[in-house]
Amino acid sequence: MPVGTLATVKTLTPAQLKETGAQMVLSNTYHLHLQPGEAIVAGGGGLHKFMGWSGPMLTDSGGFQVFSLSEMRKISEEGVTFRSPHDGQIIKFTPEKSIEIQNTLGADVIMAFDECPPATASRQEVEAATERTYRWLLRCIEAHQRPQEQALFGIVQGGVHLDLRAQAAEALEKLDLPGYAIGGVSVGEEPELIHQVVQVTAPLLPYHKPRYLMGVGTYQEMVVAIASGVDLFDCVIPTRWARHGTAMVQGDRWNLKNAKFREDFTPLDETCPCYTCQNFTRAYISHLVRSQEILAYTLLSIHNITELIRFTQKIREAILNDTFIPEFGEWLTPRE
Ligand code: GUN
Ligand code: ZN
Repeated sequence: MPVGTLATVKTLTPAQLKETGAQMVLSNTYHLHLQPGEAIVAGGGGLHKFMGWSGPMLTDSGGFQVFSLSEMRKISEEGVTFRSPHDGQIIKFTPEKSIEIQNTLGADVIMAFDECPPATASRQEVEAATERTYRWLLRCIEAHQRPQEQALFGIVQGGVHLDLRAQAAEALEKLDLPGYAIGGVSVGEEPELIHQVVQVTAPLLPYHKPRYLMGVGTYQEMVVAIASGVDLFDCVIPTRWARHGTAMVQGDRWNLKNAKFREDFTPLDETCPCYTCQNFTRAYISHLVRSQEILAYTLLSIHNITELIRFTQKIREAILNDTFIPEFGEWLTPRE
């Protein structure tokens, strides 16, 4: 899922986004609550209609963003209070409030309100957050008003502690939710630990339901996670890097400001079917990036998203053809 935090995948129209092959878009409860507010999104006919995206959508619950982005937050059993970065107002998010906002926004998949402890948290702190996340999930299920239209996914926390992860996964599995996510990864821990957490947690979640690894989407992390059964990812990397003038090309990243691209009149990737690669050269995109022309970021976002979606499409084909290990096995061994 490309990331469309504020009901837009930055720099792209929905038509351009669709052409990348992306199926589902992620948006965010925290950001949309602050701006423009869920009432306005609902007034515009709900998230899909408001932003002109007819494909599936998922909203994250806002828990993670409250923890990572807002100041003066106070966490209690009831929920989280924080100061709005827009106007300084004190705002309270609870599991009930997050679900109410997500019911109003109207995405197809909504996420449970969870507590994601930082990588620096002690085992005791992670254990407390994991148990609270479970109690909050029960409150989310209770508060959900549109279960026929919106699938509520539970989130497994547990930090790098594999026994806590296993306990949480088993407890969530019993709730028979329509889908499950693995949260609390990529918060500053070693890549090897991320792999272990995913390899232990994903197989404990039901294989016939979607399994979503939150906030992850680099090539290697996706291959490792897919090998363990993960189906769904979100990641800002393709669009964020695009806005920094970086292209993702066949497993590598290129800074288009590099002098070697100035007179390179070939496409970013000859094998890529995207609009950018079919119509423009490295030299032209390098010129746009150097001139800080807005089109640079659109063209690079189109290419980068197409590139990652194509990567997952190739993996899906390999799984169906039983050639996953010969084709992608090299990604499963640690590199550097
Ligand atoms: N996005 C990335 N990680 C997380 C997480 O642990 N929880 C939530 N809600 N969103 C995330
Ligand atoms: Zn391309």
